[in-house]
Amino acid sequence: MIICKAQNYTDMSRKAANIISAQVIMKPDCVLGLATGSSPLGTYKQLIDWYQKGDLNFSKVSSVNLDEYRGLSPEHEQSYRYFMNENFFDHINIDKARTFVPDGLALDVDKFCKDYDKLIEEIGGIDLQLLGLGRNGHIGFNEPSDIFARDTHCVDLAPSTIDANKRFFNSEEDVPRQALTMGIRNIMMAKKIVVVVSGKDKAKALKETIYGPITPKIPGSVLQLHPDVIIIADEAALSEI
Ligand code: F6R
Repeated sequence: MIICKAQNYTDMSRKAANIISAQVIMKPDCVLGLATGSSPLGTYKQLIDWYQKGDLNFSKVSSVNLDEYRGLSPEHEQSYRYFMNENFFDHINIDKARTFVPDGLALDVDKFCKDYDKLIEEIGGIDLQLLGLGRNGHIGFNEPSDIFARDTHCVDLAPSTIDANKRFFNSEEDVPRQALTMGIRNIMMAKKIVVVVSGKDKAKALKETIYGPITPKIPGSVLQLHPDVIIIADEAALSEI
């Protein structure tokens, strides 16, 4: 595990975007595993900027997103599909037909989850997975638990996650209570993992992720077992280390 110290959010985002750029340049038809939320937003902005300057070409890239709120349609402004279109896909030359986000409206959830696992395999597995870290140590929406969930599944969001994400909704009641998320196996099968972590409210979770015991109580701690992880964190996030 490589820990890379960034001065601030902008520096963190540029460093992460550099690694993703290198991936896209070295393997133009790569599969990117993508995340939503505040952490990767600056990374996407930087990648868009480099694309607009002509330095990057996403035309052969496929992407697969970690998660989606259950019950939100792709048109819902807080859905993760909407987030990805607004903040990344609509500004680069990726083929939208090859961008995959779990279907929050899937009726047969079990079947959908199995199909999502199959899809990840069929497109060749994830070359580079971008992750954020929850305040409670979650990755994707794999919340603290007694077990590591293997594959894509439906999860009840933890109260701390609902609290953290209510900032995007009109009120806490509007935050969906469930989500579909890739499991720990899906994430750990990625060839390379880049984690972006910013802010003091992540400091405890980050310390436990890097130095704590490997436990499903801190899902991010499983990353200690992955052979190619880089954590890019700003000074505030590293303040407890
Ligand atoms: C989002 C995701 C989550 C977030 C995490 C941090 O797709 O999978 O694990 O990465 O909740 O969220 P932010 O970046 O908003 O602090």
